[in-house]
Amino acid sequence: MYLTVRDATKLYGTFTALDRVSIGIEKGEFVCLLGPSGCGKTTLLRLIAGLADLDGGKITLEGADLSQMPARKRGFGIVFQSYSLFPNMTVAENIGYGLKIRGVPRSDIAARVAELLDLVKLPQVAENMPGQLSGGQQQRIALARAIAVDPQVLLLDEPLSALDAKVRAELRDQIRQVQRALGIPTLMVTHDQEEALALADKIICMNHGSVVQAGTPEDLYHRPATRFVAQFMGISNLLTPEDVTRLFPDLLPPRPATPKAQLACIRPEQVDITPAADGTAMVRSISFLGNLRRLEVDSPVGPLTVETHGTNPCRTGDPVSLRVAPDACTWVIDDAPAPKAVPA
Ligand SMILES: Nc1ncnc2c1ncn2[C@@H]1O[C@H](COP(=O)(O)OP(=O)(O)OP(=O)(O)O)[C@@H](O)[C@H]1O
Ligand SMILES: [Mg+2]
Repeated sequence: MYLTVRDATKLYGTFTALDRVSIGIEKGEFVCLLGPSGCGKTTLLRLIAGLADLDGGKITLEGADLSQMPARKRGFGIVFQSYSLFPNMTVAENIGYGLKIRGVPRSDIAARVAELLDLVKLPQVAENMPGQLSGGQQQRIALARAIAVDPQVLLLDEPLSALDAKVRAELRDQIRQVQRALGIPTLMVTHDQEEALALADKIICMNHGSVVQAGTPEDLYHRPATRFVAQFMGISNLLTPEDVTRLFPDLLPPRPATPKAQLACIRPEQVDITPAADGTAMVRSISFLGNLRRLEVDSPVGPLTVETHGTNPCRTGDPVSLRVAPDACTWVIDDAPAPKAVPA
């Protein structure tokens, strides 16, 4: 592991903001840190950056303890939640700032700045002031500034939060391309589960100052460990073992993997739905979402969400039958429900 955080604990007075958090980032890996507001994401980033001190635990870079190393010596690139460019410096001066304070010759700085402006696809704005740029452009300059000094680790705190959906999607692909091209291990905080699924090699899902689950996007989506993760990572139907037996009597209900796993998580696209005169469920409403339809269904065990692609013949009010493949069922631990996801 390149960067490791082991049992990191952070207290603010009597409040435990981080409770023995352990994470790791491999060389070249893109890791997304996901979780609801206030769960400790920024706090963890600040500890890694050296902008706050640990109350317990250890952070190491290639095995070396970072506790005594001040922020400026860590050589980490950081983009904060608000992109915070220096307003009284030009774009070129902003990007070159880290190089200048390291005593890099002026002509080398100019060349590097030009290279970085090309990289973030803004070759024309070197002499502009930040205030003359759009939010998305400022965000890209903040990214260029963070990578100017060849950081050993890139820390991004919701770098896309201020942008509208389209610019956001474009920019996130750009961040990913730049990160891949340079191979910088990156930890990016986001509220947005879709963003994390689309971008990350690994997702770390946090709640209340603790890591709930870490794994690949597929792991967290298809094999959530708990109810919280299942709900945080998209829409899920959560059923008790009795519900499963009642709703899918033909399905040999697979046993929960552990005694603590109490709920079956079935994703909306894993349910087959067909009109059936003797069906025990009924379509309550249908939303057309372009590439798919989302059906809200009243079933004998309560409401379910089903998603279909293409031309499914079901209409509102139809009696329907429901089926799932045996492997569509993942047993999860019934922890506290997740709060409603914050819209992007
Ligand atoms: N300097 C501080 N003093 C006291 N409490 C703090 C301080 N900084 C953060 N906290 C508290 O610690 C908790 C975690 O804060 P943090 O900023 O890490 O959350 P976050 O996950 O980044 O949230 P968001 O998604 O809203 O940015 C919150 O409850 C917050 O109120
Ligand atoms: Mg934050």
